[in-house]
Amino acid sequence: MPRPRRAIRLAPSLLSADFGALGAAVEAAEKGGADAFHLDVMDGHFVPNLSFGPALVRAVRERTTLPLDIHLMIQDPEKYLPVFREAGGDTLVVHVESDVSMGRAIEAGHALGAQVGAALRPDTPIDRVLPWIDRLDQVLVMSVHPGFSGQKFLPDILPKMAEVDRRLDEIGSSADISADGGITATTAPEVVRAGATFLVCGNSAFAGGDVGANLASLRRALEEATHRAVR
Ligand code: DX5
Ligand code: ZN
Repeated sequence: MPRPRRAIRLAPSLLSADFGALGAAVEAAEKGGADAFHLDVMDGHFVPNLSFGPALVRAVRERTTLPLDIHLMIQDPEKYLPVFREAGGDTLVVHVESDVSMGRAIEAGHALGAQVGAALRPDTPIDRVLPWIDRLDQVLVMSVHPGFSGQKFLPDILPKMAEVDRRLDEIGSSADISADGGITATTAPEVVRAGATFLVCGNSAFAGGDVGANLASLRRALEEATHRAVR
């Protein structure tokens, strides 16, 4: 049974925003048509970069009512689920390659009233997520190696994304497929065709400083691609 389709949502990734004027960036993105925010938490261990923790999530929470999607690129995500939920995270996304017990994390996240996502690095096979697919609210398929924004999209992940889509369809799940890394006006239609419904955009949202114009051009690219497809 094909699953109920969700509208395509654009989630600016704050890693690419100006940290010196973060509040203004959040407000501009919300005004400019963002559907959610994506926040990349990195521990310098699971990925070779450090970003920010719950204090920043809390500060963002105070500036917007949009959903906050927390991408936990950390080795021990279970330990921090309550902290990021309490800071205002709506969706807590944990990597299957971390030290997590996915079953326990899903249970804990749901008990906290959060949605739970499982993330896959570009080279991680889909089997790592299949045992939990019926209990997840989101599957995040990384289209760059995690750690940094502004990298080039890896097209080899598209068949994997399409396979996740097929598996979700099979069970009638309404979970989001999140595409994260290198999403641009060119790659956005490609991931949507492969089943993505939640598009994380870092560089393509904030480059040049006009987040509203950037989000509008991403949406235009998606609309044009849809029109071409139905014609
Ligand atoms: C990378 C992060 C991404 C990043 C995306 O590890 O998970 O969310 O911010 O940035 P862009 O869209 O520039 O690739
Ligand atoms: Zn991310």
